Order: sequence, then structure tokens, then C-alpha cells
Amino acid sequence: MIKVNDNFCKLPGSYLFSEVARRVGAYSEAHPEAKIIRMGIGDVTLPLCPSAIAAMHAAIDELTRRDTFHGYGPETGYDFLREAIAKNDYGLRGVSIELDEIFINDGAKSDTGNIGDILSHDCRIAVTDPVYPVYVDTNVMAGRAGNLEKSGCWSNIIYLPCSIENGFVPSLPQEHPDAIYLCYPNNPTGTSLSRKELTKWVEYAITNNVLLLFDSAYEAYITDGDTPHSIYEIPGAKKVAIEFRSYSKTAGFTGVRCGYTVVPKELEGRDRDGNVIGLNGLWRRRQTTKFNGASYISQRGAAALYSDSGKKEVAENIKYYMDNAKMILNSVMGLGLQAVGGVNAPYVWVKTPDGMSSWEFFDLLLEKFQIVGTPGVGFGPSGEGYFRFSAFSTREATMQAMNRIKNI
Ligand code: MLT
Repeated sequence: MIKVNDNFCKLPGSYLFSEVARRVGAYSEAHPEAKIIRMGIGDVTLPLCPSAIAAMHAAIDELTRRDTFHGYGPETGYDFLREAIAKNDYGLRGVSIELDEIFINDGAKSDTGNIGDILSHDCRIAVTDPVYPVYVDTNVMAGRAGNLEKSGCWSNIIYLPCSIENGFVPSLPQEHPDAIYLCYPNNPTGTSLSRKELTKWVEYAITNNVLLLFDSAYEAYITDGDTPHSIYEIPGAKKVAIEFRSYSKTAGFTGVRCGYTVVPKELEGRDRDGNVIGLNGLWRRRQTTKFNGASYISQRGAAALYSDSGKKEVAENIKYYMDNAKMILNSVMGLGLQAVGGVNAPYVWVKTPDGMSSWEFFDLLLEKFQIVGTPGVGFGPSGEGYFRFSAFSTREATMQAMNRIKNI
């Protein structure tokens, strides 16, 4: 008998962005003439920056010659990239991270999902709500989530609501979780946590023996000085936090695929007999067993982003998207809608008008204005009544979209 993982059967029919794509596909089939503007999934539109392109071309040339060919690389990443990360992403911020604490991967999505492999099946997890759906769905797959309730919440997950009412700043959990996913700057709300707020979470985690799974895929978009780029800027965080980073949104690597995870050696858990176990070793064991490393070509491309020219080009791309974000934020606020985000992140999170549901607003924008965004409820129950615009479109498309809705 072919026995399937029953947990998968508990999941809603499709992943959020697949559902959005399905609905948009159906609409464009029925209206082939429609000029749809896509501001849904956070997929970049600018091409790769010249420094990464040159490095990847050179890497391909190396692979064409017997004497410079590379086969399997180190499963946890080449040192040339890990050294650049340790120096630039951490050292320059006064944080010391050792090379064997850095694990190169094929993007943050994989590892934020896979990290559950090294946690016990009965770990109780907490998420901010709304939330990047990968954190919840992968825990459903692992059997940690319980059952889906009418409210849209999973019975065994602790939800930490973020809404206009609390200024999108989650409160510390009332119940005791074993692990908490935090994504800051936040996807989907585009809000960020100040140093003081993040310190509160780290101190809570230390006192209560909780693991923080910190997704900082959007850190490069931070524009204010009070928002930490890494959780390790907060004293004590290495004892309680794993950090996920990505080049997808920073350098247009959504198609190339490269990112990394930091698992500090100070981070310890316990097995069922109470023995102390280092999470770094467990994650290494997991990665070397299930992953053969990101490609040499993409790692060379990523390393080039840390050159002087690479840094300059990345900064220009980020400015381009953040100018889009500013335009979106100003336009929707000009329409009298409540909105946040767009300052430290490339997402603008809007309260839907007149009590419309998220999907009603999605349909309205698609059918009347041929604009695609993401319905807030797709990110969790507290996202109902909200809508997310991504700033990753082209300048022209963003201007056109804002122009289309000006009389909404
Ligand atoms: C999003 O739109 O939320 C992201 O692009 C999804 C992802 O990074 O996987």
C-alpha cells in the first residue's frame, strides 16, 4: 500500500501564490486583451547586476576547462562566499560569525521550511499573524500544527496578531512556544522592529528557553538607523536565534537561487533524555545528508555582490524598488486608505476600503483595473481586510497601476 503523509492532506488546496497565479491565469484567458500589472508575488523585475553577471560568466568558463572544473562543492558552501558574508554582512556591523556557522543554500524559502527537520515533532511553534505562509505550511506538513479551525488558525500553532490596533508590533506570547518565527523587515506587512523591540524578543527567548527563527531576507531594504539588520546585533542572540538571509530580493537572485542560514555554535537544544545538543551540528548533519550545495556559478555570482561595484549596483536596485514603494504608499494614502510598510521593506500593506474582504478587493483590482496584488487573508487570519502591494514591478508599471486606481 502506498501510504501518504496525512499531514499534507490537511493543507488547503494550493499554496497562496499558486492560487493567485491560478486566478490571474483564468482571468487573462477570459480577457486576452487585458494588460495586467503584477504587484502580487515579490518577484524582482530588474536584471542581474553587472558584477554578478561577469562573475557567473567567468564561473561558467572555469567549468568548461578540465583544470578549473568544479564538481560537487562543499555542501555548506564555498569559503570564498562564506568569508565575504562573515566580513561584510556581520563583521562590518560589529558581529563576529565564524565560517562554520554559515550554511549557503538555494534561497531562504528552502531553509525556513527545512529547519523544522532538526526540531522535535512536539515543538510548539508561534508565528506573527499575518505571516509568510511557508512557516505555517511546512509545520503542517511536519505534523506540528494540529487541525485547521474555522477561524483559519491551526489548533496547535500560537498566533501573535499584528494589525492597525497594535501598530503591527506583535505582543510576546501568552502561551509558551518552543520556537517563534520572526520575519523583519516583515513580509507581508512591510513593517520593521526597532532595536528596543527586537531586544525584548531576544531577552524573552533567553529567559524562556525559546528558539527564534529570524528571517531577515529583506534587511537590505532598511532605511532607518534604528532597525537592526541582523538579530545578532542584539546581545545574547547567538544563544537563541537562527538567521535566514537571501540574495533573491537583494540582488535579483529569485531565479538564480542563493541564500544562507546562520546557525551559531552557541545555540543548544536538548534531546528527549535531557542531553545538550548543538543545533549547528544537527543542521550540518541535515544539510550534508539532504543537500549538495548551491551551484558554484550562483555562489560566484553572490560573492561578486560584495565587491565595491557589486555593493553599488545592489544599492541602486534597492533604491529603484524603494522609490516604487514610496510611490505606492503615497498613492494609496492619497486615496484615503490606511497603509503601512514601504519604508524599510518593499511591501505596502493596505487596509481594504469599506470593510471589503481581502479577496473581494483582489477581484475588484483585477477585474476593474487589471492589477494583481496579494489578498492579506492568504497570509493568515489577521490579514483579512488587508491587501499587499509589492514594489518589485518596473517603475513604468507601478506608475501606471497607481494612475489606474486614482479614481477608485
Ligand atoms: C512573497 O511574495 O511573499 C515572496 O516573494 C515569496 C517568496 O519569497 O517565496
